[in-house]
Amino acid sequence: MTSERIRIALQKSGRMAEDSLSLLKNCGLHIDRSKDQLFCRVKELPIDLLFIRDDDIPGFVSNGICDLGIVGENVFAETHAAESEGFAASVLERLGFSLCRLSIAVPENGAIKGIADLAGKTLATSYPHLLRGFLKQQNIEANTLLMTGSVEVAPRLKIADAICDIVASGTTLTANNLRELTVVLKSEALLIRGTQQFSPEKEATIHRLLSRMRGALMAQDSKYIILNAPRSAVAEITQLLPGCDSPTVMDLNKEDMVAVHAVCKEAVFWETMEKLQSVGASAILVVPIEKMTA
Ligand code: PRP
Ligand code: ZN
Repeated sequence: MTSERIRIALQKSGRMAEDSLSLLKNCGLHIDRSKDQLFCRVKELPIDLLFIRDDDIPGFVSNGICDLGIVGENVFAETHAAESEGFAASVLERLGFSLCRLSIAVPENGAIKGIADLAGKTLATSYPHLLRGFLKQQNIEANTLLMTGSVEVAPRLKIADAICDIVASGTTLTANNLRELTVVLKSEALLIRGTQQFSPEKEATIHRLLSRMRGALMAQDSKYIILNAPRSAVAEITQLLPGCDSPTVMDLNKEDMVAVHAVCKEAVFWETMEKLQSVGASAILVVPIEKMTA
């Protein structure tokens, strides 16, 4: 029985850890994890969680220690590029959170103005395989210096001319007087799986989890909109509702007025509300959706 539980590798700390856990919680899993605990058994589904360093996640999934993993595309792509042969993990779903990019950055007002100026220079990075792949593709010969952390200080220490590192808000670059030169890889959180065949029981659990995840991710941005409008404005209103093609229209006890109910699968901004008002909508309600299925 126990062998039929699936095991998911998660980042134990860091910017993705929290979002990954909240996604699993939105899938109805209760996760009781005291600090420093590396393992957690979930009661609601036959799932165990293993909390490890993000760099280790693709390998743990590839070698079968874990069946699934949630990891940044940056880490997944680097491991994939490093272990092209025998790498046995693939992307099951793109999760759309923890957006960031792997970029080459150079000192502000320095000698490097464009990509071509990188020729013969040294770039510090924790992503040597992705960087080398990019340089090769651009036909640039440059040196890479492997650093596992604090890459952004390398130019100031004069041990590298440029860096290739993760940029999210850009704060780290600005704080270190660096300027983004070019993007090497756009990244988001990924759900990955081992490519081997699992038992039917495990496949069934994975299938259930995946459909809950899709529902949870869809519900996150989705809103339920309720408004009143003149019947003549319904066509125009439908056009304005983000990610909604067929609202429910109900008669109101008032001549030529209707109530429009719709699920919008994209964010609803104040701007949208103002446009709705300008075509005649009133009493607009925007309600969050907790769960939904496709
Ligand atoms: C990444 C990256 C930068 C920072 C960029 O590090 O190495 O230091 O995030 O983010 P920003 O653009 O929002 O400033 P991370 O926090 O993932 O940790 P690590 O470098 O220790 O792996
Ligand atoms: Zn960093």
